[in-house]
Amino acid sequence: MPSKVYIYSLAMVLFMSPSHAASDPLVEAYRQPQSLWPAAETDPGIDAVALAPLPAPDSLPVWSSATPERITLGKQLFFERRLSASDQIACASCHDPDLGWADGRRVSIGHNRQQGDMNAPSIVNSIFLHEVFWDGRAANLEEQVIASWTNPIEMAGDLEASTEKLSAIHGYPPLFAAAFGDPEVTVERIASAIATFMRSVNMLDAPYDRFLKGDTQALSDTQVRGLHLFRTKARCMNCHQGALLSDQQYHHLGTSFERVGNFQGRYRISGPEEVGAFRTAPLRGLSATAPYMHNGFASDLDLLLSLYNIGWWQNAALQDKDPDIPLAQLSPRIKPLQLSQEELADLKAFLLSLTGNLPYMKPPPELPDYRQADTH
Ligand code: HEC
Ligand code: HEC
Repeated sequence: MPSKVYIYSLAMVLFMSPSHAASDPLVEAYRQPQSLWPAAETDPGIDAVALAPLPAPDSLPVWSSATPERITLGKQLFFERRLSASDQIACASCHDPDLGWADGRRVSIGHNRQQGDMNAPSIVNSIFLHEVFWDGRAANLEEQVIASWTNPIEMAGDLEASTEKLSAIHGYPPLFAAAFGDPEVTVERIASAIATFMRSVNMLDAPYDRFLKGDTQALSDTQVRGLHLFRTKARCMNCHQGALLSDQQYHHLGTSFERVGNFQGRYRISGPEEVGAFRTAPLRGLSATAPYMHNGFASDLDLLLSLYNIGWWQNAALQDKDPDIPLAQLSPRIKPLQLSQEELADLKAFLLSLTGNLPYMKPPPELPDYRQADTH
C-alpha cells in the first residue's frame, strides 16, 4: 500500500507539473494579445488607459533637441559636484546609478547634511513625466534641474557663481561649444544638457514590457495572476494605468501625517482640495528604489501592499495640526481590497516584474580637471 508520504509527493509532482500550470485558463487568457484579455475593472467615470509598453524615447517630440554632444555634457554635469555651493554634492549624490538612480534613503540628505522631507525618486524614465516632482510643481525637467540645483537643502547652488565656476574650468567651454555651438556657459545650457541626459536614461525592457510586446513567457504564472489582480480586484489600475503605469494625477492615500515628511502635497500648488495629494508613482524599477512613497515611510512592498489591502485611512485630526491646512481627504478610489495572502503574493510577484536591466554608469564619466584652468 502506498504510504501517505508517497501520495503526498505524487500530488505535489502533479500539482507542480507544467501541464497543470498550462491549464490555468486565466493565465492562458493573458498569454494572448491584450485585446483578448479579461476586461479591466475600474470605477465608473474613470476612463482607464490600457496598459502598454513604453514608447521609444526618441519617438517623443521632446527628444528632438537631444544630440550626443548634449547628452555627453549633461552626463558630466549630472556628476558635477562643483555645481553645488559646497563643491560636494552632485545630482548623482542623491540619484546614484548604483541605487536605481535614487538614494536608498527614507528622505534625502543635502547641503550641510540637512535632511529634506521627501524621498528621492529615480530619474529613470523621467522623459515620460508630464509634470515633475511628487507634487508636480515643475513643468518640465529643465525647470526641475534649476529647482534642485538651487534648493538650499539640496545643492544650495548659486546660479551665477556656479556658471562662473564652470567657465573657469578649462575643459568645459569646449564641451559647451560642441553641444551648443559656442563655448558660453549659461544657466539655460546647463539645465538643458542635464535634462537631455536624464531623458536618455531609460529602462524599457522589464519582463513586464517584454510580456506586453508579445513574449508570452516573460512573466511567470504567479506574475500573470498578479497582473490580473492589478487590473481588477486590487483596483490598482484606477490610478496606475497607461504606458507609464501612472495617470499622472494626484491623490491622497493616507500617507501624509502631520510632521512626517511633507504632508501638504498639492496644497502648496492647487489649494485645499488637494491637501496631501501626490502624483501616482510610475512603478517601473521598484525593486531597486525602496523605501517607497513621497516621504519614504514604506520600507518594503509587503508593508505597502498590506496598507492598500486595508484601504489606507483617513488622516485623523491632530491637535497640533496647523489650523489653516484642512484635513487631507482620502481618495474615493481607495477601498479595502480583501486580498488573501496568496493574492498579495501574486501581486508582489507582478510588481517585481516591472524591473529590468536598469541603466548603470560604470565608471562614472571623467570630469574636466579644475587645475587645468590655472596651468595654461
Ligand atoms: C540632496 C539630494 C538631492 C540632490 C542633490 C538632487 N536631488 Fe533630485 N530629488 C531629490 C528629492 C528628495 C526629490 C523629490 C523632491 C520632490 O518631489 O519634491 C528629487 C526629485 C527629482 C526629480 C523628479 C522625479 C520625479 O519623479 O518627479 C528629478 C528628475 C531629479 N530630482 C533630478 C535631479 C537633478 C538633475 C539634480 C541635480 C541638478 C538633482 N535631482 C539633485 C533629491 C535630490
Ligand atoms: C487612488 C489612486 C491609487 C490607487 C488605486 C493605487 N495607487 Fe499606488 N500610488 C498612488 C499614489 C498617489 C502614490 C504616491 C503616494 C504618496 O507618495 O503619498 C502611489 C504609490 C505607489 C507605490 C510606491 C512607488 C514608489 O516609488 O514609491 C507603489 C508600489 C504602488 N503605489 C502600488 C500600487 C498597487 C500595487 C496598487 C493596487 C493594489 C495601487 N498602487 C493602487 C495612487 C494609487
